[in-house]
Amino acid sequence: MLSKRHPQLNKNGELIHLLTLEGLSRAHLNQILDTAASFVTVSDQEVKKLPILRGKSVFNLFFENSTRTRTTFEIAAKRLSADVFNLDIQRSSTAKGETMLDTIANLSAMQADMFVVRHSSSGAPFLIAEHVAPHVHVVNAGDGRHAHPTQGLLDMYTIRHFMAKRGKQFTDLRVAIVGDILHSRVARSDIHALSTLGVPELRAVGPLTLLPGGLEEMGVRVFSKMDEGIKDVDVIIMLRLQNERMKGALLPSAQEYFEHYGLTRERLALAAPNAIVMHPGPMNRGVEIASDVADGEQAVILDQVTFGIAVRMAVMSLVAGNKA
Ligand code: CP
Repeated sequence: MLSKRHPQLNKNGELIHLLTLEGLSRAHLNQILDTAASFVTVSDQEVKKLPILRGKSVFNLFFENSTRTRTTFEIAAKRLSADVFNLDIQRSSTAKGETMLDTIANLSAMQADMFVVRHSSSGAPFLIAEHVAPHVHVVNAGDGRHAHPTQGLLDMYTIRHFMAKRGKQFTDLRVAIVGDILHSRVARSDIHALSTLGVPELRAVGPLTLLPGGLEEMGVRVFSKMDEGIKDVDVIIMLRLQNERMKGALLPSAQEYFEHYGLTRERLALAAPNAIVMHPGPMNRGVEIASDVADGEQAVILDQVTFGIAVRMAVMSLVAGNKA
C-alpha cells in the first residue's frame, strides 16, 4: 500500500507548512533550530530587518486568545520584512456566522501568502492547509489540545541553548513535564520533539486525572508524585492548569493542587543542580509555580519568549522558501 505523504511536506520531504512536530525528523528539527540560531542576532542589530519575506502578506488568524504567540509571530514576520495583517476575530464576520474556510477564501482573494492560525478545534490548521492554493503556507499557532509546534520548537531551542552552557546535549538529559498534560498541546509537541532529538529520560508528572493514556507507549515515564518525578532532572517544564478545557471537576482545588504539584524552591532543590525551569505561559502563580521560582535565577521563562521570535522567523522563512 502506498503511504500518504504528510500534508506539511512536499514531495522532496521539505516543509511547506508547519502543522505538527509529530513525524518530523531530527534533521528537520535541527534545520529549524540552526536557522533560528542564525536569526537571534538580528534582534541586536540597529536595523532589525531581513528581506526574506519582502512583498509577502502574512495573515495572523487567532480564533483563540494569545499574548506571546500572536505578538512574536507579528514581530518575526516584520523582521523578515513581510506585510502583516492581524484579523480581529471578535470584530470580523466570523461573529456573523462566516465559516473559517470562507474567511480563508476571502483573505486568499486578497493575495495572502501565509496564514498563521490558532484555533480551539484540533485539526483546524490541517483543514486550512488542505484548502489553500499551492503557493500559500500555513503555520499552526496552536490547535485545541493537539499541537503547538512553534512552542515546542522554541522550547527545544531554549533547552539546547542553556544545556550547551552546561556541556550537555539532548542525548544527555532528563526532562520532566509537570502538570495538566491531558489538555496541553504544548506537552504533546514537546514530547514529540524531545523524543525525536534523543532525550533518553522523559517524564510526565501530575495527578492521574490530568495524565492522558498512551504516554508509556511513547517512551515517557509517568509519575503521580512530584518529588519523585522531578528528582535529578536537568529540565522542568511546568504547565498551566487549563481550566477552560476541563469539563467537570478533575481537581480538588487550586490550593490543594499547589500543595501536591506546585513548583516551590524546596521541590526545585530535588532536581539536578542548575536545572532550568520553563513554562510556556501564561502562568498561574501560586497554582502550578511559586512566584520566587518563576522569578528565580533558574527560570528561563522570559528567555523562551525572546527565542520565540527567532524560532518563528526560522519557521516562516523555511516554509516560504519551499515549493509545494
Ligand atoms: N505560550 C503561549 O501559547 O502563550 P500565548 O497563549 O500567550 O500565545
